[in-house]
Amino acid sequence: MKFISIALALAAAALGRGENTVKLVSQDSVDRTVHFTGNPGMPAIETVTVRGHQNVTVDMPHGWIGNWFAVSRGAAVAPGMLGEVAFNSWGGVTFFDVSAIVNAHDHVGVKKMWPAASRKPSSGCDAFPCAFAYYLPDDVQTQATRETDLICTLGGGGDARNAAPVVDAATALVFPREFVTGRGLPVQI
Ligand SMILES: *[C@@H]1O[C@H](CO)[C@@H](O)[C@H](O)[C@H]1NC(C)=O
Repeated sequence: MKFISIALALAAAALGRGENTVKLVSQDSVDRTVHFTGNPGMPAIETVTVRGHQNVTVDMPHGWIGNWFAVSRGAAVAPGMLGEVAFNSWGGVTFFDVSAIVNAHDHVGVKKMWPAASRKPSSGCDAFPCAFAYYLPDDVQTQATRETDLICTLGGGGDARNAAPVVDAATALVFPREFVTGRGLPVQI
């Protein structure tokens, strides 16, 4: 296990990538900006532009907790569907989900998230509203993974992962209350 971690770390270093990444995958022709909001005390992450049908991989700091939303070119910058994450949390587990709690009417931004290698579990959907995103404060749709490279789709609807997400009971860990309620994830408007 240790050797595998070292090998992965070396591979990541060779690629110039950090410990944690989020790969933003555009699924349509729309250019978007993606805006990150960290919890208090978290390092700021610069806004990135993801062009239509392109991908951008963002390095995320160790232990970063916060969220992001996507804004289509020409649209007002306002929070939408959120990608939420808590990297390197308890026991090294990373928690993530797609949340509609701030703006459930955004059906063109953040769509779905999953760990890059195992591709499960996933959160969010290709078409909203759906049952696999987190809508209400007491909705627990937070997913957990031991991977640190996540994929987050933006827009479109032609994703190959149209099947219902698989929830892996072994990784369905209890998430801290402040994350579940959204209190730990302030969105600055
Ligand atoms: C973007 O990433 C997805 C998922 O990893 C991949 O299938 C696709 O080929 C990539 N597209 C580009 C333009 O690199």
